[in-house]
Amino acid sequence: AEVVIVRDAAAGGALVADEIVRLVRADPEVVLGLATGSTPLPVYEALRPRLAGVDVSRVRGFALDEYVGLDPSHPESYRSVIAREVVEPLGLDPARIRVPDGTLAGIEHAGEDYEAAIRDSGGVALQILGIGTDGHIGFNEPGSSFASLTRVKTLTEQTREDNARFFDSIDDVPRHCITQGLGTILRAHHLVLLAFGEGKAEAVAGAVEGPLTASLPGSAIQLHPHATVIVDEAAASRLA
Ligand code: F6R
Repeated sequence: AEVVIVRDAAAGGALVADEIVRLVRADPEVVLGLATGSTPLPVYEALRPRLAGVDVSRVRGFALDEYVGLDPSHPESYRSVIAREVVEPLGLDPARIRVPDGTLAGIEHAGEDYEAAIRDSGGVALQILGIGTDGHIGFNEPGSSFASLTRVKTLTEQTREDNARFFDSIDDVPRHCITQGLGTILRAHHLVLLAFGEGKAEAVAGAVEGPLTASLPGSAIQLHPHATVIVDEAAASRLA
């Protein structure tokens, strides 16, 4: 992967936003791969002024993952987060932006349906990725197959602790999720993994330089011909 060290998260967000604007101008129906969590927020913030005056009415998007069993109307469901942080501020068409269905009613076919929808779209042009402190991308926790497709996974205790900040207590953090697989993610044309802060340094080093291993799912990016890793000095601190 190409590693780009930036001054701070805002600078990283601006870099990615510039590339996304270029893609939208070149193809108004471009398919974007969206991520949730804290890391991509500077990308979405930087996109807002940059997309003013750009026709985004036909932009399409697929989120990486969703909690299972959380009511879709819960403010921390990824459906809600994508609506609040991406679709509404950027003026996207909600009908063109998909999030996996994590409701128990829909879960049986949700993986297959999501894969079919991504395939039918022609594929994701640029996939935004964060990385978990345990090395996950999407919610592909350690042990995930590099060939995996969208499916239900169990969140590690580490991830539940990391995400407890979004909930009243750790007991409220769902135990399961539905996530694009590593195989799904690897089909995107361009992967852009962002990571900021010392807490991500080890995961970043493993993803970029470590052995290819299911124990560090982020290492799958080494299999991709066009992967860009955008980090601040702290997140880059364990790179050789
Ligand atoms: C979110 C996702 C996760 C996060 C990762 C890092 O859609 O797929 O892989 O990117 O858990 O989360 P933050 O950015 O909150 O540190």
